Amino acid sequence: MAKAPVFVTRIIPEAGLDRVRETCDADVWPDPLPPPPVVLLEKASRSEGLLSTLNDRIDAALLEACPRLRVISNFAVGYNNIDLDAATALGIPVGNTPEVLTDATADMAFCLMIAAARRLLDGDRAIHAGRWKTWEPMGYIGQDLLGKTLGVVGMGRIGYALAARCRGGWGMKVLYADVADNPHAETDLGAKRVDFNTLLAESDFVSVHTDLNDKTRGLFNRAAFSRMKPTAVFVNTARGPIHVQEDLTQALRNREIFAAGLDVSDPEPIRDDDPLLALSNAVIAPHVASATIRTRNAMAEIAADNLIAGLAGEPLPCFVNPQVEANRRR
Ligand code: DGY
Repeated sequence: MAKAPVFVTRIIPEAGLDRVRETCDADVWPDPLPPPPVVLLEKASRSEGLLSTLNDRIDAALLEACPRLRVISNFAVGYNNIDLDAATALGIPVGNTPEVLTDATADMAFCLMIAAARRLLDGDRAIHAGRWKTWEPMGYIGQDLLGKTLGVVGMGRIGYALAARCRGGWGMKVLYADVADNPHAETDLGAKRVDFNTLLAESDFVSVHTDLNDKTRGLFNRAAFSRMKPTAVFVNTARGPIHVQEDLTQALRNREIFAAGLDVSDPEPIRDDDPLLALSNAVIAPHVASATIRTRNAMAEIAADNLIAGLAGEPLPCFVNPQVEANRRR
């Protein structure tokens, strides 16, 4: 039987890619940069399966130009790069890679939190620039974590995992803002659900773990930063557009907040001349929270499983729009 043509938009770990190559007629984009939109369109329009990354914008226009497409497997837990309504309306199943990246992402949020709080970048820059001359009783003084208050915006799996680290290891009090209660967080970690403004006002560390949607886009704007403590540390490992970068830069520059730790920026990559890069109280990583060997291998395996299941007409193991399957059965 002929293998189904699929387009894989980036090289992913062999743990998944080998299976995709065995099972499908795989066209794998070999470049380190994502395929330009015109190439994505051209290749997707000839494919029955698409294994995409968060860099690939899969909008309604692209989907309508791809009549053969039977499954989209996104190599990420987030899927804001995909017009989900359009995919669902066209009956195209969409898969993602949840859970396996929870711990790696929570670790990175914690890493950014402590690096920003303890001014690691300041010290690192000083050493690399040859500016560090002696131990300084008054130099590089940062914030403690022990016993402080963590505010989690979006108490899902990753928010919970960060809160568990902070509660268990550092005895932190946990507040959270979310559209729903998280009884586990309340029972296990003593977390308290509060409204967004209370969380901003009372937290020493504010960490974002919500998805990017119409309600969260620009949530951290000038007004939000102005409600935070001047000693507060802001952490974003979710999606860049959840913060307004210009407002964050102002808040950091004017010391309205103490520091920020970011794994994500808006846009990505961050522009070379972005004023945020000139601030030593902003620690910025290149969207690497899930970048551990175990995690990326597991993501690749799930992405392959989703793709192969979709091509076989089976429910995806990690289904973002299971209503497609329900509609199919009707
Ligand atoms: C995701 O999975 O959504 C992360 O942002 C990248 O691993």
